[in-house]
Amino acid sequence: MPELKLPFIGHGGDYNPDQWLDRPDILEEDIRLMKLAGCNLMSVGIFAWSALEPEEGHFTFDWLADTLDRLHGAGISVFLATPSGARPAWMSRRYPEVLRVREDGGRNLHGGRHNHCFTSPAYRAFVGRINRALAERFGRHPAVVGWHISNEYSGECHCELCQQAFRRFLKARYGTLDALNHAWWTGFWSKRYTDWDQLHSPSAIGETSIHGLNLAWKRFVTHQTVDFIRAEIAPLRELTPDLPVTTNLMEMFGGLDYRAVADALDFASFDSYPKWGHGDGEQTALGAAFNYDWMRALKQRPFALMESTPSQVNWHDVCKLKKPGMHMLSSLQAVAHGADTVQYFQWRKSRGAAEKFHGAVVDHAGHEHTRTFRDVQAVGALLPKLKDVLGAMPDSKAAILFDAENRWALADCQGPRRDMRHDGTVLAHYRALKRRGIDLDIIDQTRDLDRYRLVAAPMLYLLRPGVAERLSAFVAGGGTLVCTCPTGRVDADDLCFLGGFPGPLRQLLGIWIEETDALWDDERNGLRTRDGKTYACDALCDLIHTEGAQTLATYTDDFYAGRACVTVNRFGKGRAYYIATCPDADYLDDFYRMLVSELCITPVVSNLPTGVQATRRGDIAFVMNFAGAPVEVALPEGTDLLNGEKTGGPATLPVNGFRIIRIRTKREDKQYA
Ligand code: GAL
Repeated sequence: MPELKLPFIGHGGDYNPDQWLDRPDILEEDIRLMKLAGCNLMSVGIFAWSALEPEEGHFTFDWLADTLDRLHGAGISVFLATPSGARPAWMSRRYPEVLRVREDGGRNLHGGRHNHCFTSPAYRAFVGRINRALAERFGRHPAVVGWHISNEYSGECHCELCQQAFRRFLKARYGTLDALNHAWWTGFWSKRYTDWDQLHSPSAIGETSIHGLNLAWKRFVTHQTVDFIRAEIAPLRELTPDLPVTTNLMEMFGGLDYRAVADALDFASFDSYPKWGHGDGEQTALGAAFNYDWMRALKQRPFALMESTPSQVNWHDVCKLKKPGMHMLSSLQAVAHGADTVQYFQWRKSRGAAEKFHGAVVDHAGHEHTRTFRDVQAVGALLPKLKDVLGAMPDSKAAILFDAENRWALADCQGPRRDMRHDGTVLAHYRALKRRGIDLDIIDQTRDLDRYRLVAAPMLYLLRPGVAERLSAFVAGGGTLVCTCPTGRVDADDLCFLGGFPGPLRQLLGIWIEETDALWDDERNGLRTRDGKTYACDALCDLIHTEGAQTLATYTDDFYAGRACVTVNRFGKGRAYYIATCPDADYLDDFYRMLVSELCITPVVSNLPTGVQATRRGDIAFVMNFAGAPVEVALPEGTDLLNGEKTGGPATLPVNGFRIIRIRTKREDKQYA
């Protein structure tokens, strides 16, 4: 697989000259401004289908050729996009099968974007044809350094073609209807299927009560999207085998299993739109960092920050401007977590339509004398100084399991709470670990665990096949695992494990979970540790029996006061912890402080103040202040990459301030027993 190997940290954004073809003056001005802003990488052709094929089979590529030549002439590289994220009206009119069918059975009208059927042979043929034509004409263009296919794949179609493909998918997975009926527990409410043709996608006006069906459909949507992606890439691979392929992925997106999507790509790209300036700055920064750690870990290699806004978006409920310093800090945050590019949506504000007020490098005013442009320019001036991080990765010793299938199943689970708080719980564990100043990966259940000392698996409700065995082997070999309620409830078809929860993890965790209480949003229980400290907990409380595990904390309230609430089980050379409830942030902070120290995982920065993030790529450390106030922090020993000063002692980071430090010593984590 070709890799993204840029000779620079990419800087640029979505560039849509196709919206300005009647304004050659603007197109010329774009190049001047790009150079002025320190841009070296543009994504061109996204959503440009109607400009590339205005009539069926009639390609008008000359404007794109001119664009690529002009960019190349200015030393600017290009991610060339395939246009499949939105299609021209002629296609929908002549070939209605390309239009999506909703779950209520109605076919959409032409409109919007991301609105096509991934199964439609007609759509696949049109995409294949234009992609081939683009690759033939531009695949060897010296400006082109990679393919940006489509845009933010998402959504599902319930047309008859998709139903047939779904049935084929089910036949391949289950083989027989008997196996399917068993896996989906269709004896319940008289659901037994007797003919494959009876199978249909879940729908609010039809079937939603078979959780196995719901899960299978979500898997199918990923399967079919990935199948489409692979078909979309095929002519590109054939004609341009050396060009890496990516597509842009979205924040904590749950519609697709990104692990499977990433398998079809050469590198991951990410669109980042945190709500900077709203609410708790630490929390916003943690959300962004979580996504970056996820994107990097998807391919275990640097990713592209394909989109971010240089100022404000136009789709949050309230679209805040980035305050002074935030553009630089937020851009660096992505690089600090593994991005090899900083790119924007969008280069120039469109004049009309839905995104005319979305932030862009170039405003409607059309010149460089804006705060936003100067902010972008400053990033453009700084990135070349960070060239040494290109390709470098952190050496994460800790990981959090964040698994699409588990998330789907938990969202569909009825009881004991409507909101099982999966995402919030994962983020709470992430925050507690990140506050320790360590690098960490966000991985799913299928990933190799060997490289980690600590794996936190919050709410591992669904276990994919073989996962219990792999987690057990990880702990037996010396790893530390943290599980929380509700763990080990269902198998990959959403069938409950028989014989006592946490099912196949019972021996590893050394506990049996007999019951689970649910708490209202305004209810709390408490947990008391062995040294007498108490903390609040909420949402869910498993009532457990220890079966070899030691009790580390007990509940303080209700009829189960005094019963085990946090346990640890020695298993082989390692330990498996179980947190039977959702403890408050103070508990998680103390818990992970103890674990990270016991496991001798070296932080990039020790005693990190709240709101400060620290990461490391190779021998370069980033320390970033999202606290919204000046903070004092003990910098790692080394040399400031930007001003050459020696670092090592305490330093004050101003609001939105950062330091980038070449660390003196090579990372060497202390050995641990
Ligand atoms: C992204 C999308 C872009 C643009 C942007 C606005 O999700 O890929 O095309 O719409 O949002 O923030």
